[in-house]
Amino acid sequence: MTPVSTYEHIIDELASKDYVVVDGLIEAEILSELKAELLKKHTEEELKRAEIGNGANSSVNDLIRSDKISWIDTDSKIPCEQAYYQAVNAFYTYLNQACFTGISDFEFHYACYEKGTFYQKHIDRFKNDSNRKFSFITYLNDSWQHGDGGELKLHLDDEVIEVEPRFGKTVIFKSHLIEHEVVENHRQRFSVTGWLK
Ligand code: OGA
Ligand code: MN
Repeated sequence: MTPVSTYEHIIDELASKDYVVVDGLIEAEILSELKAELLKKHTEEELKRAEIGNGANSSVNDLIRSDKISWIDTDSKIPCEQAYYQAVNAFYTYLNQACFTGISDFEFHYACYEKGTFYQKHIDRFKNDSNRKFSFITYLNDSWQHGDGGELKLHLDDEVIEVEPRFGKTVIFKSHLIEHEVVENHRQRFSVTGWLK
């Protein structure tokens, strides 16, 4: 169970800065199992090149993003995926009660950025679909070193925040507000990425 103090910290940060970087929101054991699941999908070549846009407007674009993803079913029977979704649900239920955010849905995928891949500066909302309220990314990379690249850069009005994608770290930000990018990385980079809607 995540302590209420962690939720309160996240709510304070989101209210004052529109983003938060937090450790320990999701238990390490759940994340280790998700990582194993992701590595299995990687080995079995179940990850597919991510597209930009949605519906009929979607396409692979090498110049904009080069990660590979696999969506996680909301009714997954895999215990670590269920446990992850329970933790996400507990978090947004708290957020809804504290801040009237009205979140009622979510979508998450595994992501793998191979060495040399990136995601150019963008906003997490589609032109024809504005229902993503919060972006929510948890990193799964052990022993990430400074210099490995792959930082998430959050482009704020007056500064750029760099987040190293270290194991157990979660980044949450307001999807319609914060432009961001994944800079080219120099080793494989794994995460679970999603949106609260
Ligand atoms: C995305 C994204 C950031 C990250 O998938 O839309 O911006 O740090 N990901 O993986
Ligand atoms: Mn994004």
